[in-house]
Amino acid sequence: MTLNQKEIEQIHHMFSQALTKVTTLEALEVIRITYLGRKGKITELMNQLKQLPVEQKRLLGPVLQELRQSLTTKIEAKKSELELKQKTNGSFFDVTAYDPAHKNGSLHVYSLINQQLEDIFISMGFEVVSGPELETDYYNFESLNIPADHPARDLQDTFWLNLPGKLLRTHTSTVQAHCMEEKKLPLAIFAPGRVFRNEATDATHDFMFPQGEVMLIDKKISIANLLATAKAFLQEFFGQKDLKIRTRPGYFPFVEPGIEIDGSCPFCKKGCSVCKYTTWIELLGAGLVHPNVLRCSGINPEKYSGFAIGFGIARLAMLKYGINDIRLFHSDKLSFLEQF
Ligand code: PHE
Repeated sequence: MTLNQKEIEQIHHMFSQALTKVTTLEALEVIRITYLGRKGKITELMNQLKQLPVEQKRLLGPVLQELRQSLTTKIEAKKSELELKQKTNGSFFDVTAYDPAHKNGSLHVYSLINQQLEDIFISMGFEVVSGPELETDYYNFESLNIPADHPARDLQDTFWLNLPGKLLRTHTSTVQAHCMEEKKLPLAIFAPGRVFRNEATDATHDFMFPQGEVMLIDKKISIANLLATAKAFLQEFFGQKDLKIRTRPGYFPFVEPGIEIDGSCPFCKKGCSVCKYTTWIELLGAGLVHPNVLRCSGINPEKYSGFAIGFGIARLAMLKYGINDIRLFHSDKLSFLEQF
């Protein structure tokens, strides 16, 4: 076969394949001699080149030079690699290795809980939405059937701003009217977010904490839909398929009837310190959306009905992870934050 471009390429290919298999300096030297040695393949090709007509020489000469150069570089690189391996006894410095003195960042426990809650509600067909933290009197109270002078305004101590009618939202129920105004029916939303209360802090109360609001509005929504949703949610959240719920009457001006939902204690069967030896834990506020609330957002309560569920995300996180002080969540205690 006379020397041609294809043959040169083939030799290059064979060389590359042989090189990937090499694991010792000795084997590398054999390859070097085979290809680049005095009697090696490249020398052989050079000899063939000499016998070719001038035009062919002009064409293939530079290609052969390039091949020789490329092979030499690759051999050198492999040699350095193998020498390093020999020096380090085969173990390379691993930049991803665990360093006990190094502090890694991690997701905040609120982020972890929010992700889990979002997964649960998305899987049940709810859309995750958010609303403003700085709110108006209308969305925090009026639209929720709490007119001015209504005593229920005192149920939640409010941070009023110096701007008239403006406040930091005291609950995520504010998102209800926003969504009813902006979205089409049927409506199924989950709104997690921060809320603010103007009150003294202790182990179970904070001036800022996360809440979650769930709302479903459609034709023929009843308390049965509410209870089924609440139960499925709590069972999934605590990972207990046999978790039971019970209801007690509860007063929230924006729902009628209003209920409080307790879950059977996920931590015991007979009573423990978490459930205060009652086997039940208070978990959710809920109810059927009050006709006034629907009407306020232009929805006809004769045609549509709905339910709303509200809960403290911090409270759920505290129960789930056995945290005994709500203030830890926004403290700078690394020993606390690093656990998650
Ligand atoms: N917004 C109420 C609270 O913060 C909770 C709630 C939401 C109750 C929805 C009923 C329905 O206390």
